[in-house]
Amino acid sequence: MTWYKNAVFYELYPRAFADGNGDGWGDFGGLLEHLDYLQWLGVDCVWLTPFFPSPLKDDGYDISSFYGIHPQYGTLEEFRLVVDEIHERGMKVIPDLVMNHTSEEHPWFRMARRSRESRLRDFYVWSDTPDRYAGTRVIFCDTLDSNWSLDPVSGQYYWHRFFASQPDLNYDSPRVQQAMLDIIKYWLDLGVDGFRVDAVPYLFEREGTTCENLPETHAYLKRIRRYIDETFPGRVLLAEANQWPKDTLPYFGDGDEFHMGFHFPLMPRLYMALARQDNASIIDILNQTPDIPACCQWGSFLRNHDELTLEMVTPEDREFMWNFYAPERDQRLNMGIRRRLAPLMGNDRRKIALMYSMLYTLPGTPVLYYGDEIGMGDNLALPDRNGVRTPMQWDASLNAGFSSCAPDALYSPVIDDPVYGYRQVNVQAQRADPASLLNQIRHLTHTFKRLPALSEGRLDWLADAPANSLCFWRASEDQRLFVLHNLSDAPVSIPTAHLGLWAARNELTGQRVEIGATLVLPPFGFLWLSPLGS
Ligand code: NOJ
Repeated sequence: MTWYKNAVFYELYPRAFADGNGDGWGDFGGLLEHLDYLQWLGVDCVWLTPFFPSPLKDDGYDISSFYGIHPQYGTLEEFRLVVDEIHERGMKVIPDLVMNHTSEEHPWFRMARRSRESRLRDFYVWSDTPDRYAGTRVIFCDTLDSNWSLDPVSGQYYWHRFFASQPDLNYDSPRVQQAMLDIIKYWLDLGVDGFRVDAVPYLFEREGTTCENLPETHAYLKRIRRYIDETFPGRVLLAEANQWPKDTLPYFGDGDEFHMGFHFPLMPRLYMALARQDNASIIDILNQTPDIPACCQWGSFLRNHDELTLEMVTPEDREFMWNFYAPERDQRLNMGIRRRLAPLMGNDRRKIALMYSMLYTLPGTPVLYYGDEIGMGDNLALPDRNGVRTPMQWDASLNAGFSSCAPDALYSPVIDDPVYGYRQVNVQAQRADPASLLNQIRHLTHTFKRLPALSEGRLDWLADAPANSLCFWRASEDQRLFVLHNLSDAPVSIPTAHLGLWAARNELTGQRVEIGATLVLPPFGFLWLSPLGS
């Protein structure tokens, strides 16, 4: 029942992945053609970003009907086929569940805004003035300066934590609470294995608070979990709560709220450690990370479809990260950085692989972002977060093999620069090359999956490891692994004399390693070792 604890997740944008019908937009037909690829890569669970009817003002996170499929992606029948075919390959699938808000075009909002007496008025949050809940931060701070917008139709302000086109639902309304449960039932009935739940901290509002992580929010989320456990046992809920570890902890409850939650603060610290060639930021955040219930798991990630968020770092660290990784203003967005993994690593293969190694060996279920496994680049000329949502690069043919349409019909141009362009960077070429990044990531993925200590084991730091390394033990009941990383661009020597460890198996090569007084790692090198008797 806890399959998600030892699994690899893969996030993909249906619009960006593969176009089956040649109209320039990714769709379910295209996805179906590439499920074998995901299986080959070692993916256990596919997270699909929103594919519901939507005016797409926030790329589908603005839903205008929870009960359908955006026609660009296909039909409900095709969706059923996607679910079946994913299951057929032994994988699972979780769509996004966007609970906090709808599109302004959702019939609920259209009806609610008609008049203050509307039957659905209480589905949303209204106010005569824009000064209620003044303690609440604005998330899309580059675009908005308030969480309130005036509705000219009914003359009141409505509350929105994201764009003004995404009015927040009012969870104080029992009808909203029930409506969301009905939506959950609908999709679970269709066979999905759970949800990645969007923006969970913001469901309720209370004066005098930050309107985040409120007890009322947790109570309702527990109600959802109870419902799922009773009606659809075995399905999984993954929380998007961009919070400090102590504030994320309650989302696991006593094992009775979310099964999984993203570890947002860990992610930027992986980049920070590499930039500073110093392990302190990682050790510090993981030491601050509380134990979670045994049936729960963190979700860890390097990048996703949003900006690389720097909300969970100090202002000084944010400045450092911006200066190091996003020196140009157009590389920054809101409180983050709108670039992909490979460009952030200066396209240095050693660093990209090192980041993946940390992702796989530190606690948490790894969640990969489509395209990063081949080292795709980004397109800063595209607005907002679109630069990291460009078409998947399948091969070197027209439109990167993503679509057969005329190039100007693509939903977004393909990356076509000399370094990251699809002629250089694509799945087909990398599959054929045993030494490619893709094959290396695949190898890490499959090795990770056969080493339960990496997903379930406790973590113990090697106390006297140099600051420019990251060395630790992972130990589960019947497996111990010794993991070493060199965060620096020079060889580093790790003291091993006191470990009582004479020989080990290199889990990534299968070779035997003799261990003397020190182990020397090449620049940005890493080792996954399991101790051998003698
Ligand atoms: C978080 C999603 O990851 C992001 O893409 C979206 O814009 C907001 N939630 C609003 O739904």
